[in-house]
Amino acid sequence: MAAPESKFVRACRGQSTPVTPVWFMRQAGRYMAEYREVRKHHSLVEICKRSELAAKVTIDAAEILGVDAAIIFADLLLPLEVMGMAFHFESGEGPVIEKPVRAPADVHALRTDRAGELGYVAESVRLVARHFGAKLPVIAFCGAPFTLASYIIEGGGSRHYLETKKLMYRSPEAWDELMLKLVAVLSAYVVEQARAGADVVQIFDSWVGCLSPADYRRYVLPRTTELVQQVKRAAVPVIYFGTDTATLLPAMKETGADVMGVDWRIGLDDAWRALGNRGAIQGNLDPVLLFANKKELHAQAKDVLQRAGGRAGHIFNLGHGILPGTPVEHVQDLVQLVHDYSAKYATAAKVEWFGESQ
Ligand code: CP3
Repeated sequence: MAAPESKFVRACRGQSTPVTPVWFMRQAGRYMAEYREVRKHHSLVEICKRSELAAKVTIDAAEILGVDAAIIFADLLLPLEVMGMAFHFESGEGPVIEKPVRAPADVHALRTDRAGELGYVAESVRLVARHFGAKLPVIAFCGAPFTLASYIIEGGGSRHYLETKKLMYRSPEAWDELMLKLVAVLSAYVVEQARAGADVVQIFDSWVGCLSPADYRRYVLPRTTELVQQVKRAAVPVIYFGTDTATLLPAMKETGADVMGVDWRIGLDDAWRALGNRGAIQGNLDPVLLFANKKELHAQAKDVLQRAGGRAGHIFNLGHGILPGTPVEHVQDLVQLVHDYSAKYATAAKVEWFGESQ
């Protein structure tokens, strides 16, 4: 951990900060000219594997936006390769996994002993942490077992998660074996990044909102809790993010994650209440608002901050990643607004979550 006293890391621990920290999922991406320039010469996976390029893309995005944390440039699907699954990105169509897992025998064949080969991501973390030192914290990330399993089983994105749920309901033993294998690989992968200097780990469970609370508890919570606990043993705070999770939040909180990431489908205050007002929260502006005029963007960003009420432990973010075509200038403007507007709140309302006195 290189920046333990930064406002982002303090907020992850539920501690007060002079202004609300802000960063964005997919802050490095196609909406940014500097990224498109690098992409002209390299594929996405090439950028991830060449640590100096991944570090450059990570650093540029954070510096251009003036955000309070740098998320390491990588992709959710990189661990699939070392488990024995080939994938590629089809332009405009998203990821394609070449031979999706459909049967118990396919699960048996997945490997868990090659996580060390993902060391190039830890190396990117090392380079970014060296660049920023204590000035800016670095976020490492991985997919959550459910969301990665959905890609592995569907072979790509999905609408109904039919194949995923079929395996889950029809072959619960193979499902659990898959969850266990993913936890083994993912925990080794992100713990190595924590050792390389990452300050916080975010676990993306982007698609878990397709489950009922009962199925979440039965099929997903136990192994996801193991992952969260293994990461916490590396002494870094964990952010657990999903979309469409309004009904799942109390169960997701049982993983022990320090911060819950929520999307715009629930008010930030309602979400925090659903969590028993415990721990920190991250979110939750609709990314499409960055395409609106500034008046609407500002009004809705202020609404998020008002719902947070100046309480310690709020990290401002979008409810999901920045979309292609987003005007960069609106993103920079939003960072400024969050800092300026929250400064007023921090002095007006000194509410502390964990009874601390700083
Ligand atoms: O700045 C950052 O946030 C760090 C980089 C990052 C990428 N992917 C790079 C990337 C992060 C955090 C991810 C996570 C990721 N990858 C998720 C979880 C987040 C989410 O959106 O819920 C998922 C589901 C993936 C898998 C994936 N990779 C998808 C669905 C796509 C979209 C395909 C497309 O064509 O848009 C990708 C590609 C990808 N990963 C891009 C980037 C910047 C798109 C741009 C490109 O092709 O260069």
